Amino acid sequence: MIIRPVRVGDAEDVHTIRVMPGVMENILGMASERVSYTDEFIRSLSQDDHVLVAEVEGTVVGIAALQVSARARLRHTAEFGINVRADRQRHGIGKALMSALLDIADNWLKLKRVELSVFTDNEPAIALYRKMGFVVEGTKKYAAVRNGIHADEYLMARYGD
Ligand SMILES: CC(C)(COP(=O)(O)OP(=O)(O)OC[C@H]1O[C@@H](n2cnc3c(N)ncnc32)[C@H](O)[C@@H]1OP(=O)(O)O)[C@@H](O)C(=O)NCCC(=O)NCCS
Repeated sequence: MIIRPVRVGDAEDVHTIRVMPGVMENILGMASERVSYTDEFIRSLSQDDHVLVAEVEGTVVGIAALQVSARARLRHTAEFGINVRADRQRHGIGKALMSALLDIADNWLKLKRVELSVFTDNEPAIALYRKMGFVVEGTKKYAAVRNGIHADEYLMARYGD
């Protein structure tokens, strides 16, 4: 497995991950999402967007992003997101991607706060986040539409030195 920065040519693989069952329902994507959405996302990344992918045998199997706030007084904070292909989960890919981005957060940006939102029933993701030092700060009630209901999310954060 190679961990490397995302490239424009990864759009198709990343799109495939985003819309597949086992991923789509746990993020804020839509089954109707187009490859062009992911293509534009990658092309529009700024220097404050740190996006890494995990590649196995030429295919992108996971992607994670750390997006530092552009606001002057929030420059010590960032949002985190991660997706691993459904058929490649539980093989250490999520942990590897997250470790690489948290190294950037801790040692190269000296961020004080990394935050994320996660559906309250997404146990694999919550377990990974807890393992990596995140704590639940609160519950966002009715945070997002998901399969016919307004589902709750946890706000989780991890504090740097
Ligand atoms: C959450 C996700 C990123 C985890 O990635 P992964 O590559 O499967 O995770 P890893 O194999 O690196 O697991 C790392 C740790 O996370 C926890 N974990 C991962 N999957 C788990 C599961 N199904 N049940 C319980 N704990 C789990 C474990 O603590 C694990 O460590 P261990 O294997 O030593 O026990 C992945 O399941 C995923 O992409 N899910 C769909 C999209 C999603 O939910 N994204 C997050 C939205 S907030």
